[in-house]
Amino acid sequence: MKAVILSGGKGTRLFPLSRGKYPKQYLKIFDSKSLFQMTVERAESFAEDIVVITNEDQKFIVMDQLDELGCEADVIVEPVSKNTFAAVLMASVVAGGDFVVMPSDHFMKGDFSRYVGIAEKYVRDYVITFGVKPSKPHTGYGYIKPGEKHGEIFRVEKFMEKPDYNTAREYIAQGYLWNSGIFAMSSEVLKSEIERLYPGLYELFESDAEKGYEKCPETSFDYAVMEKTDKAGVIELDIFWNDLGSFDSIYEILDKDGSGNAVKGEVFQIDSENNLIISERFVSSIGLRDYLVVDTRDALLICKRGEAQRVRDVVKYLREKG
Ligand code: GDD
Ligand code: MG
Repeated sequence: MKAVILSGGKGTRLFPLSRGKYPKQYLKIFDSKSLFQMTVERAESFAEDIVVITNEDQKFIVMDQLDELGCEADVIVEPVSKNTFAAVLMASVVAGGDFVVMPSDHFMKGDFSRYVGIAEKYVRDYVITFGVKPSKPHTGYGYIKPGEKHGEIFRVEKFMEKPDYNTAREYIAQGYLWNSGIFAMSSEVLKSEIERLYPGLYELFESDAEKGYEKCPETSFDYAVMEKTDKAGVIELDIFWNDLGSFDSIYEILDKDGSGNAVKGEVFQIDSENNLIISERFVSSIGLRDYLVVDTRDALLICKRGEAQRVRDVVKYLREKG
């Protein structure tokens, strides 16, 4: 099995830590490694070859972070960022054979390679996705309805990317899984599915990647392939998985002191509980409860816990302001 790491997304929801040119997957929030580096290490646990697909803006960060790990991955720079459909096609052509597609913005604990071992046996017949038991009707995820069992995997009866809130609630009641965004497949099976769904497109990537990118619809692999293929199979991951989409989920994961405070940096708190404080300079809080405080050199975020998804609106405001 090879590993294809997708690392070209913008990941702006961790503003002000993440920025347009420094997305969340490169932040060293945990220990001394970034999510991207932890993904590389996960890939090293099973893959003989690692391919990273990124863009011009991020390639130096990718190379630096690979160097820090002493990892010699193959780095592909895409001609233009067109979301994950194009990135997976490009990587499939470069990697060839059997591979696992890994997003670089997840936090996982436990032995993922065990699940790759299962997937390996089925990639001749299926495009495999790894599912996660849902805990709430999150609308930023894909949903998978597992169907009939085939050996150690389930056929996917239905795949729906990012449903609305009420649909997500219904899906959870019906036993759907979240899509982790990690996929395992063989380039041959992918090629034949693309031939059926988007005739000529795969060959274009094989003969001239730039032309492939030009013709490729700008969409995610989830919409373009997973929702349409009848070859989808799912393996449920029974290990800790979190896509760290916001500071609320970072708070959940970081170690807390006896008062429920998670801090990074020099922080002194009096009568303060259940806060997340991340700062490059000294911070003190008095009587503060249930807040997220993220301070950087040029921007400060103060946010009630539970509302961190709305940081998106701050980023939008800044973008429009120019
Ligand atoms: N090279 C490259 N080029 N990488 C990209 C691009 C691109 O244009 N766009 C996104 N990526 C990378 C991101 O950096 C991330 O590691 C991964 O591809 C997934 O993209 P996201 O943009 O983070 O997707 P998502 O989180 O909205 O949704 C996906 O993940 C969910 C789980 O976290 C989907 O697969 C959902 O179905 C899934 O539930
Ligand atoms: Mg993501």
